[in-house]
Amino acid sequence: MSLLPISAISQLSGGHGLLGHSGEIERNRLVFIEKVTRETARLSRLRVPTVNAVVINHPDLLHEVMVERARDYDKSHLLRYSLYLLAGNGLFTALFDTWKRNRRMIAPAFHPGSLGVFAEPMVDCAQRVTAEWHDRSQIDLLRETTRITMAIAGRTLFDADTLLESDDIGHALTVALEWAGNNAPSARAFVHLLVRHFTQVAADATNAPAESRRRGLQRTLTGPVLLVGKEGRELKHAIAVLDKHVERIVAARRSDPKEHGDLLARLLAAKDEVDGSSLDAKQLRDEILTLFVAGHETTATALAWCIDLLAHNPDEYALVQREVDALSGPPTAADLPQLPATLRAFKEALRLYPPVYLFSRQASRDTELAGYAIPKHTAVAISPLAMHRRPDFWPEPDTFRPARFLPEAERSRPKLAWLPFGAGPRVCIGAQFALMEGQLVLAHLLRAYEFSPLGTSRPDPSATLRPAGGMPMRIRKRA
Ligand code: HEM
Repeated sequence: MSLLPISAISQLSGGHGLLGHSGEIERNRLVFIEKVTRETARLSRLRVPTVNAVVINHPDLLHEVMVERARDYDKSHLLRYSLYLLAGNGLFTALFDTWKRNRRMIAPAFHPGSLGVFAEPMVDCAQRVTAEWHDRSQIDLLRETTRITMAIAGRTLFDADTLLESDDIGHALTVALEWAGNNAPSARAFVHLLVRHFTQVAADATNAPAESRRRGLQRTLTGPVLLVGKEGRELKHAIAVLDKHVERIVAARRSDPKEHGDLLARLLAAKDEVDGSSLDAKQLRDEILTLFVAGHETTATALAWCIDLLAHNPDEYALVQREVDALSGPPTAADLPQLPATLRAFKEALRLYPPVYLFSRQASRDTELAGYAIPKHTAVAISPLAMHRRPDFWPEPDTFRPARFLPEAERSRPKLAWLPFGAGPRVCIGAQFALMEGQLVLAHLLRAYEFSPLGTSRPDPSATLRPAGGMPMRIRKRA
């Protein structure tokens, strides 16, 4: 079958000016995403400097890009630019060939059957944070859920006892994540990618030695080169702090004969089934920081939205409340099957406010999509938020309705109409971990306290879809 050229794909409206749609994304991501929901039934072409770009917004095409042709659509230069200093070649940012070996090695650490041991530390961290709350006081729920998930990340990842956001690790992570959120996409990022693009174009017609020089140059250009001004200095300092801590934690562990049941122990023991090799020091550093970053802010944001949505929907709140109150004590791994309404509420919060609301791929070779020829380097934007608000897959899409996740309702929808964790081989490795954490922490919080929102929260799309200005709540201790 002959393929149509990419230019035959109809263009999303707008996209004027020098930066085209990337300018719109930089200015107001929510407006851009709402437009994708309205206008893109399957795929649209975007106007972006120097590269071809499309956005896809249909389960079939999401399946084609992320599952069937995952090898052809790799992580994008833009993503790697914004996260490279922090996450290096960790699972989230690595290109396919590096990623494949490392995912194979790390996957057993996240096997659903082996996650139950983390239930107890998860609930314990939530209990420690709520023990500091005062009855009938006002809290910023987002700050509190972040303290909980950061403590959980510290405990489950490297058995660190009190890892709260007051620590310099927490501060350094916040700086690095904010930099990534503000700089992808930004005019600076596009200048960087432009330089990278032209080194590629210039080298495409050259001989072998030039090719190896080009590869060296391109590696250098993976992450940001010019870190100037206050922001740049802060980022460099933050990365140095994180490197120092990770080095210290790994060195301490290597000289500690005690057995640890955390993820670090699993990473240190990981062996490639093909050649028997282990993760080297740099790869270990990249994976630790990746898991730390990928794991805590996402879940903290989802937890805060979930409680906010429940508090604005009393019937749904009552349903979950009855369920968690029926437990005989603090929630445990064995209680998870008794908490289906809690899980449904968490999944529905992930639909309405998917923390990873916009990501991208880039064609690693000439390929195809929905009958169109897709040239190498074409950027493919994917927005779980745009997909989750489509009225044809989600009637009354803006309404909080956890019953959408009853088993028969889930079966009646295409699987990829819901993709808060992505899909295919690069699906979130921590999805089961996050769902379990969501269920257990919600169960503890709703058993212990009653939450009343002080106002209406609005999403602020930066690195994740956080509520703008936090989430003020009044809390009351329950008997
Ligand atoms: C509600 C919480 C979470 C959400 C919404 C979320 C979302 C995502 C998404 C959308 C991706 C795929 C991105 C892409 O395809 O480009 C991803 C990948 C990833 N996530 Fe999560 N995540 C969450 C929690 C976690 C947790 C708890 C961990 C680890 C403890 C984690 C670790 C990772 C890693 C390592 C990857 C890269 C996987 C790979 O490419 O092999 N995430 N996550």
